[in-house]
Amino acid sequence: MKRETNIIGQSVLISQLKQLALQVAETDITVLIIGETGSGKEVLARYIHANSLRADKSFIPVNCGAIPAGILESELFGHEKGAFTGAVQSRKGYFESADRGTIFLDEIGEMPLETQVKFLRVIETGEFQRVGSSETIYSDARIIAATNKNMYQAVAEKNFREDLFYRLRSVELQIPPLRERGQDILLLAEKFVHEFERKHTIVFEGFSPEAGEMLMRYAWPGNVRELRNLIESLLVLEKGKYITPEILEKHLVQRNRYKSLVHDPSKSEKNELQVIYSSIIQLRQEVSDIRQLLQHLIQTRPHVPLLLPDTSVISGPVVNTGLGSVSEEKNLSNEAEVLLSLDDIEKKSIADALKICNGNKRKTAKALGITERTLYRKIKSYGL
Ligand SMILES: Nc1ncnc2c1ncn2[C@@H]1O[C@H](COP(=O)(O)OP(=O)(O)O)[C@@H](O)[C@H]1O
Ligand SMILES: [Mg+2]
Repeated sequence: MKRETNIIGQSVLISQLKQLALQVAETDITVLIIGETGSGKEVLARYIHANSLRADKSFIPVNCGAIPAGILESELFGHEKGAFTGAVQSRKGYFESADRGTIFLDEIGEMPLETQVKFLRVIETGEFQRVGSSETIYSDARIIAATNKNMYQAVAEKNFREDLFYRLRSVELQIPPLRERGQDILLLAEKFVHEFERKHTIVFEGFSPEAGEMLMRYAWPGNVRELRNLIESLLVLEKGKYITPEILEKHLVQRNRYKSLVHDPSKSEKNELQVIYSSIIQLRQEVSDIRQLLQHLIQTRPHVPLLLPDTSVISGPVVNTGLGSVSEEKNLSNEAEVLLSLDDIEKKSIADALKICNGNKRKTAKALGITERTLYRKIKSYGL
């Protein structure tokens, strides 16, 4: 079967996602795809690969959750003959096979901590060793990872390395669950009807308008995968029938005996919070990058201290920190002005966080990882 590389959907959410995917496809940037199970994470990864310059090279999917922890490392990096009991021959790993192509690491949240260390090095340098070998191998594999887990929680609980998480999500693409895609549900249903009509040489009689509405209201806990399976069973098991809500309900109930069948929009609030958290975590990361950059510059060039941008003599190279430019100056003055600019950064990040959280102090404090009291104190001292 030819794998799906086209993303069906015309909703605003999906159109924006496709546009972003095409933008990142042109580059080799590492992408983290986040979405519920069955929402099309692998389809999106294949879409990025198919639209990249690597399209004629391999796309290698690896399910990190399905491979036992002890074996994953040798599967990813390969092994030498005799590296462990049962290693009768040396073997290439997935990273080597994906050289000049794309490796898709599904369920990345399940990757064991030991493997994460080695993986971080591959992302940073492209270098690794086969298990049982000291020879360094280089692979130019583009990395796309995916997860349906709350990675912030995994990081907070120390099940996932924070440095690796930040490194992975150079670009984060969120796939919306099917229930939030409106008319796309019917578009996808239509596509799957055609697919299975051809496969089983059956003519589908169609859905009644009420059954169509039911498809739109249903919660789709299994997302697109569930819709695809549903259409196939309707075609085969209800052959020749016009699909009414009664027939549809029978199939939906059989599939999800223990799950809520109707989409409850109030649950989207949780998603919104997730977006807020991720924006703020990104902001914190940027601030920490800037701090590191400034500290590095102070340490490596004590003779050219940094000054704020409004200084009159600008002679050194301009360092782009993302917050406007910080210029170097010949004057051997003190570091107080640098510290002052760090305060500015903190002030800006608090102001941004407040804006993202619509001024809600409790949410802002929680997202910034400080107590509400500290937040109030800082708001007061910065005059925000
Ligand atoms: N937008 C889409 N257009 C067409 N088919 C899709 C789309 N999204 C998902 N599918 C189909 O749904 C099934 C599940 O997709 P998959 O990418 O494996 O989901 P996930 O990796 O998120 O669990 C696959 O059969 C895939 O072909
Ligand atoms: Mg998958």
